[in-house]
Amino acid sequence: MSVRKAIFPVAGLGTRFLPATKSVPKEMLPVVDKPLLQYAVEEAQSAGIEQFIFVVSPSKNAIANHFGNSNELERVLGDTGKPSLLASIRDCQLPSSAAQFVVQEHPLGLGHAVWCARKFIDEEPFAVILPDDLVLADEPCLAQMVTAQEGVGGNMVAVMDVPTDHTSRYGVLAPGKVHGRLIEIKGLVEKPQPLKAPSTIAIIGRYILLPEIFDQLAEQNKDVSGEIQLTEAMATLIGGTPFSGFRFEGERYDCGDKVGFLEANIAYGLAREELHDDVAAVVLRMADALKSE
Ligand code: UTP
Repeated sequence: MSVRKAIFPVAGLGTRFLPATKSVPKEMLPVVDKPLLQYAVEEAQSAGIEQFIFVVSPSKNAIANHFGNSNELERVLGDTGKPSLLASIRDCQLPSSAAQFVVQEHPLGLGHAVWCARKFIDEEPFAVILPDDLVLADEPCLAQMVTAQEGVGGNMVAVMDVPTDHTSRYGVLAPGKVHGRLIEIKGLVEKPQPLKAPSTIAIIGRYILLPEIFDQLAEQNKDVSGEIQLTEAMATLIGGTPFSGFRFEGERYDCGDKVGFLEANIAYGLAREELHDDVAAVVLRMADALKSE
């Protein structure tokens, strides 16, 4: 069955970006000139997703506003003859029939956020995209995964190798057999210390899951910090239907982290033809200045 729906959990507090995220959701922070969340929606669209389910915090109206109509702005841009800007704001509109918003009243963790979207998912595989992970790739990361998942079925997570001392930031897998980009998952551990990590293969924010995950999430098991973790729920599914890690092609940027966010801005600026030379000149000038420090 093809993947037609995607959940975007965007109800976190974004504390690492305070004070910017005091009133602006982290997922609305721009990389170059587009909010993180718009990159995520575009990636989903290019993977064939038709239904977009946003799990928002009670105060995050900015997200619904971004994907809605903006009649006054459209009129002004139309009147003043700015067709490319007009197209750019029309491009980010989602028809109301394609966008659903569900409120996560309290930030009880990623697993809880996904569970909040359960009523919009039927008996079919669905995607989860964390917009603070950007993947710059020739073929968008989720599209790569959808093709792979159609081949093997079951649950699938995007994975990458991380430095040994970073395992405590991620869900980490115990790997089994490897077939090309696919890794059989034999176990999953949430944020293990390096010495306890089963590998250095870490999950990033792209998932294709079967609806049976909701039975596990419904148990509402909390970890020591009081959060309901997606990794814990996924770990209980191992051993039934296939569960694969997918080594995607592309470069991932952790935009939930300040340095990762800055790096993404440079990389995405360099990737834009009209900005490349100017951004490169700035980076080189700064590198020279740093060398002579
Ligand atoms: P993060 O842990 O990266 O986001 O969650 P955060 O908690 O907002 O960030 P910091 O650590 O305080 O800076 C990963 C994703 O899960 C969502 C976040 O919005 C982000 O997209 N999330 C997290 C929820 O939707 N609800 C939650 O309760 C927790």
